[in-house]
Amino acid sequence: MRTELLPVTPETLARAGELIRAGALVAFPTETVYGLGANALDDGAVRSIFEAKGRPGDNPLIVHISDIRQLAPLIDGEPSDMAKRLMDACWPGPMTLIFPKSDAVPMAVTAGLDTVAIRYPAHPAARALIDAARRPIAAPSANRSGRPSPTTAAHVMEDMDGRIPLILDGGPCEVGLESTVIDMTGDLPRILRPGGVTPERIAEICGGVRVDDAVMRPLKEGEKPRSPGMKYRHYAPKGQLTIVQGEQAEVKARIIEMYDAAVAEGQNPLILALEPHLPAYGSRRALSLGGDAAGMAHALFNALRDADTLGAEVLFSEAVPTDGVGLAVMNRLGRAAAFHIIEV
Ligand code: TXA
Ligand code: MG
Repeated sequence: MRTELLPVTPETLARAGELIRAGALVAFPTETVYGLGANALDDGAVRSIFEAKGRPGDNPLIVHISDIRQLAPLIDGEPSDMAKRLMDACWPGPMTLIFPKSDAVPMAVTAGLDTVAIRYPAHPAARALIDAARRPIAAPSANRSGRPSPTTAAHVMEDMDGRIPLILDGGPCEVGLESTVIDMTGDLPRILRPGGVTPERIAEICGGVRVDDAVMRPLKEGEKPRSPGMKYRHYAPKGQLTIVQGEQAEVKARIIEMYDAAVAEGQNPLILALEPHLPAYGSRRALSLGGDAAGMAHALFNALRDADTLGAEVLFSEAVPTDGVGLAVMNRLGRAAAFHIIEV
């Protein structure tokens, strides 16, 4: 199959909408990461997403809407008052809410679960595509399973060339990490995957929040997580990644020590560091993770892909504080490192 990479225009959006209605897959930009979309109400189209990504069949998809009126037919019952407050405050935006599903949602979307994840994205191209398709769009991140999520159309091309007919290019994604996934089926919102909408913000809106404890640790042998996505080694660079956490002077000293030891062993190491710390690593090879947690969210997946391109065999990364969007950064970084974190 030939994969076309086209800018977002009224014509390409109309074409993309037709492809979605015909059961085909289209990759498109959102404010978080690029999505790989299909008609959420078409079982066969949804199945082909799993095939194109090489995604395990037990990992459910997010259904994207472009108008709040599209929510009711997809869920069973009314959203709670808390859910309504979150929707008012954070939609459209980088937030996904989990509700009991209606019969209209095919089992392929929810991987057999009786709940469905819904997101109303803020990116104008994402909304225009859903409008053009006139259907809700099921979309995981547009990477091959196990690779870092794509934050540019070029990343999508790297992973999906020859597998899908069309990629809409809307430039780099603003947030750079996937949406916050929140389970709304209990008495308090429970964060299953941290993202752009922070726990602090959710607590402020709802008067409380739980962060699922699987967010910052590896899963135990045979453990069944609330969010099936937590099971899989995500965002993984090819080289072994180690995170170093603590006082900056000691972090720097330890990273330099491990880097120099790797060089002495003939390995190809790489450092991931916050922009202001880069000069401290001298002539050692280092990629910038931006200036703060938001910058890191924006830079992280790009850096992990670049690490592969540079052939890095071992990677050493600075940690960031886990307040605000830092929790999302450390969740992704932690998973990429299989939670190999050294405290200094
Ligand atoms: O920002 C995003 O959320 C991007 C853009 C494209 O919208 N999408 C995305 O989708 O990251 P994906 O498929 O890569 O991640 C969806 C996550 C997975 O971890 C999955 O397990 C979880 O959401 N999920 C989906 N439905 C669920 C459900 N019913 N219950 C629990 N977890 C669910
Ligand atoms: Mg994904």
